[in-house]
Amino acid sequence: MPIIYHATSHEFHLYNQQISYLIQILENGQLGMLYYGKRISDKESFSYLVSGRQRSLAVYVREGSQLSLQYAAQEYPSYGTGDFHDPAFCIVQENGSMISDFQYVSHMVYPGKKPLVGLPATYTESEEEADTLEITLEDAVDGARLVLNYTIFSDLPAIARSARFINAGSQVLTLERAMSACVDLPDDNFEMVQLSGAWSRERHVKTRHLEQGIQSIGSTRGNSSAEHNPFLALKRPYTNEFQGEVYAISLVYSSNFLAQVEVDTHGMSRALIGIHPDTFSWQLNPGESFQTPEAVLAFSANGLNSMSQTYHRLYGRRLARGFWRDRERPVLINNWEATEYDFDEKKILRIAKTAKQVGIELFVLDDGWFGARRNDFAGLGDWVVNREKLPDGIAGLANKIEALGMKFGFWIEPEMVNIDSDLYRSHPDWILHVPARNASPCRHQYVLDFSRSEVVDAVHDMLYHLLSTAKISYIKWDMNRYLSECYSIEKPPSEQGKVFHQYILGVYNLYERLLKEFPNLLFESCSSGGARFDPGMLYYAPQGWISDNTDAIERLRIQYGTSFVYPLSSMGAHVSMVPNQQVGRITPLETRTNVAMFGAFGYELDLNSLSRDELDMVAKQITFIKEHRQLLQFGIFWRLRSPFEGNDTAWITVSPDQSRAVVAYFQILNRSNTGWDRLKLAGLDPARHYYVNGNTSCVYGGDELMEIGLVLQREEICSSGDFSSTLFDICQAGENEIGL
Ligand code: GLA
Repeated sequence: MPIIYHATSHEFHLYNQQISYLIQILENGQLGMLYYGKRISDKESFSYLVSGRQRSLAVYVREGSQLSLQYAAQEYPSYGTGDFHDPAFCIVQENGSMISDFQYVSHMVYPGKKPLVGLPATYTESEEEADTLEITLEDAVDGARLVLNYTIFSDLPAIARSARFINAGSQVLTLERAMSACVDLPDDNFEMVQLSGAWSRERHVKTRHLEQGIQSIGSTRGNSSAEHNPFLALKRPYTNEFQGEVYAISLVYSSNFLAQVEVDTHGMSRALIGIHPDTFSWQLNPGESFQTPEAVLAFSANGLNSMSQTYHRLYGRRLARGFWRDRERPVLINNWEATEYDFDEKKILRIAKTAKQVGIELFVLDDGWFGARRNDFAGLGDWVVNREKLPDGIAGLANKIEALGMKFGFWIEPEMVNIDSDLYRSHPDWILHVPARNASPCRHQYVLDFSRSEVVDAVHDMLYHLLSTAKISYIKWDMNRYLSECYSIEKPPSEQGKVFHQYILGVYNLYERLLKEFPNLLFESCSSGGARFDPGMLYYAPQGWISDNTDAIERLRIQYGTSFVYPLSSMGAHVSMVPNQQVGRITPLETRTNVAMFGAFGYELDLNSLSRDELDMVAKQITFIKEHRQLLQFGIFWRLRSPFEGNDTAWITVSPDQSRAVVAYFQILNRSNTGWDRLKLAGLDPARHYYVNGNTSCVYGGDELMEIGLVLQREEICSSGDFSSTLFDICQAGENEIGL
């Protein structure tokens, strides 16, 4: 059992082959953190790690004690009792006090992991996959209980954490802050890595040195946002993709979040992650409880690639769920960039027929098929087909696409409404707004109050009708604006601080119901591209549209950054027309395909506008992708060269048995008369030989490919101009090819 409790020293040791995590019940009954990092041998006590000595201005837990909470690393620190860092939680009591004192009461260790009711979370499929420690603490004054959950996965350097507050007392408590996890590290020699950006340039990798004070990222937009992703990593300055320590935290949540690191006077670094406290206030009546979302900690002693591989394995296989989790994803075509709102059935079928001819498997009808949707001013909320565009309805079009030999799916934006819609005309009070105040529009749309169950029920019923009366294999679930005036008119003043969280619980609830009713449906999440691309969504939608920016060169950065946490199978990536709609860049079809194939692959164009030669090329590329799809979506992914650092990008995906791999090399701008270049590979077996099929075909040793590298044929790359790319198809060489 990899969770040991040493009763004499009151210490817990959670460990597996790779990591150790040590907790101590401190002398005041609260929980201290002793160590978290690479696996160490167990012993009875590590209590020498609790820092305790007299310091000027330190506040101590009681007279005569050396324990100051300011200097003791803690598990889930509270506000106002001598620790002047930002706390993990804060509870306001009826007398106005915000002081809590949660002391250890009991603990429980069990194999496996329990689900978090109503919330997305990692899970186990058998008891051997993980062990869970639940520590219960109690505040003797207000009667509140706090349960801290720790699940350590057996073969991954990862720990899932969350907290549950139970009001077991008799007074009303108000949670003003309830973070999911706190990690106190003993020094500040770190760089903070975050995935940040904006619409159309999501999840760029940004790195900064820690400084004394608070450095934070977050969202108060009602989704995880395009601006910041609910993830941060602390890496050593010398850490790179292949070596060095990394402490990462990711939040399994899709709404407002805060992720921050506070460096104190003496260089201790406190990382906190959870629901953003600025937009949260949760009244907890006697007998009620509140469960925080889950945070997942990953440790790597071997650089950022290794951290990402931990998340890929965990999130790809034990967060994503259901029918599509392990299945190769269909090659799809989406009509958005080809037609926007301007289509009818004839136009759609014309695109679909050509798509079928080149080997595409799924047709996705994007925005514009419903209600009075001629543009983005009207129709949102009315999930009934527009018969002017589609006279035979969704069911009729789905049948025609199925008859062509393809699957069919469509776009929805269930959380939104236009003023010009039947739904709004019948229920103007269903939008988030403050009575007598302006409701601010965004993209001419307003947000339905998903914190109300009757609103979720009504949307559910419309969607259920559509899905149960037509052959629908796929849904793209979009969310195209941030939340403003987030106020629910049905709730009393004391409940308004709950609305953001209850809104996302409503979204999760609708996903869950539809998944139960239509378990084979493939969901792709979307939010103006990648504004809600987060671990919470992955629990319901195994793939997500990562960005509205489909330019291949821009996508290098977006896909590279996204791969820090999210598996290839989760990244919706499409080939679109040139000049690119977002940046006007002209890139070769080959490069657009070579970028997009490392993900859930598809097209975002009208294939009828391609030449015969281009269509032949597309057909060949799709054949290649189908042959390599397992590898391209589920292989072990290594980033080799960063688009944030130079003029090129390279990555490799390797099969788990190390017998096959695909390498992609992308050169951004062409340069004249450059030197030779060797691209060192990763993840292969050094003792095997590999047949490499790229711009030349040859057999190399695995060690050779990883230590010397692939010699890039500069002349060929140069002759193909700017934005060129080369794929290397690698497989283990047979005896006769090795020629030993
Ligand atoms: C968002 C999505 C796009 C497309 C449009 C339709 O912007 O990100 O892919 O679906 O909405 O309105």
